[in-house]
This record gives sequence, structure tokens and C-alpha cells, in this order.
Amino acid sequence: MSFAEGRVAFVSGGAGGIGLAVAERLLQVGASVAIGDVSQAALKAASQQLGERRVLPIEMDVTTPTSVGAGIQRVVDEYGKLDTLVNSAGVFDLRPFTQITAEKWDWMQAVNLKGVFLTCQASIPHLVKSGRGRIVNVASGAGKRGAAHIAHYAASKFGVIGLTQSLAVEYARLGMTVNAVCPGALPNTAIGQKVVQQKMELSGEDAETILRARAEGIPVGRLSTVADVADAVMFFISDNASYVTGESMNIDGGALFG
Ligand SMILES: NC(=O)c1ccc[n+]([C@@H]2O[C@H](COP(=O)([O-])OP(=O)(O)OC[C@H]3O[C@@H](n4cnc5c(N)ncnc54)[C@H](O)[C@@H]3O)[C@@H](O)[C@H]2O)c1
Repeated sequence: MSFAEGRVAFVSGGAGGIGLAVAERLLQVGASVAIGDVSQAALKAASQQLGERRVLPIEMDVTTPTSVGAGIQRVVDEYGKLDTLVNSAGVFDLRPFTQITAEKWDWMQAVNLKGVFLTCQASIPHLVKSGRGRIVNVASGAGKRGAAHIAHYAASKFGVIGLTQSLAVEYARLGMTVNAVCPGALPNTAIGQKVVQQKMELSGEDAETILRARAEGIPVGRLSTVADVADAVMFFISDNASYVTGESMNIDGGALFG
């Protein structure tokens, strides 16, 4: 894959899991990278892992317009521009529908959907100005197919896909592409571990049984890794994908069709 020289990227949720893996890849191809996250401790650990002088950590809550606005401005102040946005910040919760409180519902939409809206809105003037803007949103397989006990999560991720398609069309003539990745079961992140933990609590099964059952439901026969998802994100950012926009790519080992 080839990448435009001197890319400047902001990765929300960049201190954890998929976002951190993407930040690492971006650094490897020579981009300037800022990571935004609500967790100060995770930001510190991620900066140490990536190399403190190589990455700009920004404490940010994607649910709050002023926090997002200040964070994006910080990136532009530091690097002079912004041409790449990856939205990976997200939260998860698993519970029977009648137990989803209005507060849980609002929290889920605020982080997973409004967070993407706010970050895109604050970034787009800079992305357009660059003439080569790229947005990649981390949605989910749950953004294409609902399932029991995740009504609030699935609704937020379906929303991310609709937002992605709409922005893709609105900004196509301004040199910007907007795409999404839809990961499947990915147990080796904080969210992945929460999925397993909450499934254990609901079903009474142990982690091994849950993970085995999930892997058996995947046509390629294994669970996903952050590297699988980062590969797809990097494709959308690359010059090779300049004609691809509005796409929501499954990174799920065929699970949606299995
Ligand atoms: N792990 C999976 O199984 C899986 C599957 C499909 C999609 N996803 C999606 O992938 C994305 C990344 O998740 P992950 O698996 O890497 O988990 P993760 O928990 O490691 O990463 C999410 C990051 O978002 C940050 N975050 C949470 N709330 C925030 C807020 N209000 N403001 C800023 N940052 C915030 C967290 O601190 C964390 O670092 C999420 O959007 C998630 O929904 C995950």
C-alpha cells in the first residue's frame, strides 16, 4: 500500500485496543499521530508503548463538544494540519432489553454515536482543507446485524454506518473519503474482555466455553485480532483506496454470512 507523505492523524480511543494498534501502524508509515482518550492512565501507558516523543496524547471525552473541539485544535496547533481521522473510541454493554435503563441507552449513544458525530464535525474543516481527507469509523458487526442483549449497542453502531454513508456522499467532491470497519468477535481488548465477562454472568458458562462457541461460529475458524482490524483501517487510509467511500467493511472472518 502507498501512503501520502506527511499524513497527520488523530485516533480517538487511541489509548486502547484497536485504536492503539492503528496508531502504531500509522507511526510505522511515517504519519504524525495524536491519540485522544478519556482514560489518562491508558494514555500514559500507550504513549510509553508507542514512544513518548513520537505521539501526542490528548485527554479527551468524545461525548463533550468543548473537549473534542479543544483536542482537535491541539492537533492542528501542534502539527499545522489534520488529514486523517480514525474514530475508535467506544463502549459496550450486554443486558436483557427490559434492563436497559434510559441512562445506559443515553451513555451508549453518547459515546459510540454522538462521539463520532462530534469528532467528525470538529475535524472536517481541517480534513477538507487538506484536500486528501480520510475518515475511518470503527463500527461493528453489530452495526449490520442485531443480536439478543445488545439493542443499545447495535443501535449505536447502525447509526455509525448511516453517519459514515451520509458523510461519504456529502464530502466526496471535496477529496475526502469516509468509510467504516465492522469487526466481529475480538476478545483481546478491554471491550472484548467485557463482552466475555458479561456473557459469563448472563449465561453461567465459563470463558473457554464462550470463546470456543464464538470461534466455531466464524467461517474462517478463529477469533479476530486487533491486527486484522488495523490492516483494514490502513487500507482505507492508503492512496490505494482513493475510489472507495461510504463502505462498511466486515472484518469478521465471514461471521455475518456464516
Ligand atoms: N472488541 C470487540 O469485540 C469489538 C468488536 C466490534 C467493534 N468494536 C469496536 O471497536 C472500538 C474499539 O474498541 P476496543 O475493542 O479496541 O476496546 P478498548 O476498550 O480497548 O478501546 C476503546 C477505547 O475508547 C476509550 N473511550 C471510551 N469512552 C471514551 C470517551 N467518552 N472519550 C474518549 N475515549 C473513550 C477507552 O478508554 C478505550 O481506550 C469500539 O468502538 C468498539 O465498539 C470492538
